Amino acid sequence: MKAAVMRATDAPLTLEEVRIDRPGPGEVLVRTVASGICHSDLHVIEGNLPVPPPCILGHEPAGIVEEVGEGVADFAPGDHVIGCLTSWCGVCRFCTEGRPYLCPSQFAGRPEGAAARLTAADGSTILQFANLSSFAEQMLCPERSLVKIRDDMPLDRAALIGCGVTTGLGAALNTVHIPAGASVVIIGCGGVGLSAVQGARITGAGRIIAVDAQPWKFDVARKLGATDCIDPADGDPVAAVHELTGGGADFVFECIGLVPTVQQAAAMTGRGGTTVLVGVVPVSELVAISAADLTLQEKKISGSYMGSNRFRFDMPKYVDFYLDGRLFLDEMISSRIKLDEVNEAFDRMRKGEAARQVIVFD
Ligand SMILES: NC(=O)c1ccc[n+]([C@@H]2O[C@H](COP(=O)([O-])OP(=O)(O)OC[C@H]3O[C@@H](n4cnc5c(N)ncnc54)[C@H](O)[C@@H]3O)[C@@H](O)[C@H]2O)c1
Ligand SMILES: [Zn+2]
Ligand SMILES: [Zn+2]
Repeated sequence: MKAAVMRATDAPLTLEEVRIDRPGPGEVLVRTVASGICHSDLHVIEGNLPVPPPCILGHEPAGIVEEVGEGVADFAPGDHVIGCLTSWCGVCRFCTEGRPYLCPSQFAGRPEGAAARLTAADGSTILQFANLSSFAEQMLCPERSLVKIRDDMPLDRAALIGCGVTTGLGAALNTVHIPAGASVVIIGCGGVGLSAVQGARITGAGRIIAVDAQPWKFDVARKLGATDCIDPADGDPVAAVHELTGGGADFVFECIGLVPTVQQAAAMTGRGGTTVLVGVVPVSELVAISAADLTLQEKKISGSYMGSNRFRFDMPKYVDFYLDGRLFLDEMISSRIKLDEVNEAFDRMRKGEAARQVIVFD
């Protein structure tokens, strides 16, 4: 099968023929139909998230089951599925207390000594990213990385639910509880931030303020639920939020992953409010924030990982939200591309020229 392989950090992906193994016990072979492109893939390429090459990236997929391994009861060939990187074990403390997205065994891979799932033409092993590796025509996944969805859901749009939508929507619906009428700021209008805008709208938030350095994104953000938009080039975005909200917002979602925007997010948060960190700051960087503000104004800061999901429960619900008109996905897709255009897609992401880009396979 054809795949885009990361051979080195900070270099273009290379298109290669790759061998994928047959499904072992508990595994499912999926024909990839579509894969969204998430900034976390770019973080890995740029070395901001340490994953060693050679590796096949891509973690926002939808596809069709081709073959199932021994003991797989939840899937059959022909099933339409979404893949999610938060695979879970079902028995650890986090799984049993209802937070399977924190399961420490989510990237366990195959047992020691087993054949590799992915092999290059020269016989060397290629690392599978997050049990998925969706920049490839097929994926061999643990069954607990997949969820079955309705057949009438278009798979190019279903793919977005695999990471960006689950992350942004879930940050607003699961990580925190936004009361109707609350004021909400979303910094960063990529696939993740635009999904957080929709989460805020679905919870019945009042003012929904979108901040982005690319003002062309405001049309999309407004269609998805933003009531106000701020371009930092027009002046201090923190002051603008304080003015719009009368002293700071109830909830601020940082959906970029930069030190200055994390600091802005904390400063935009009003007394008693909550800052939610969704963007991934490079692992080598620390952020200075006023601790006194947190104490004296009782502000909270929370991380939000993969929308605090229980994806077998959440994703079919998000599919229903799309099909009954409450979740807008068509508006989020700025381009549909072929696998061999993936490097150009990352260039567009670097320049802020894309909302969500989706690879559609033949
Ligand atoms: N927490 C999680 O579980 C999780 C899951 C998926 C992605 N992420 C992270 O979320 C972040 C966003 O991902 P994405 O795919 O939406 O990215 P993206 O590149 O599509 O979007 C980022 C947006 O930020 C804007 N931007 C960049 N710099 C800015 C600045 N200084 N001020 C204002 N706007 C600015 C860009 O114009 C763009 O619209 C990434 O860090 C990604 O790794 C986190
Ligand atoms: Zn992602
Ligand atoms: Zn577990």
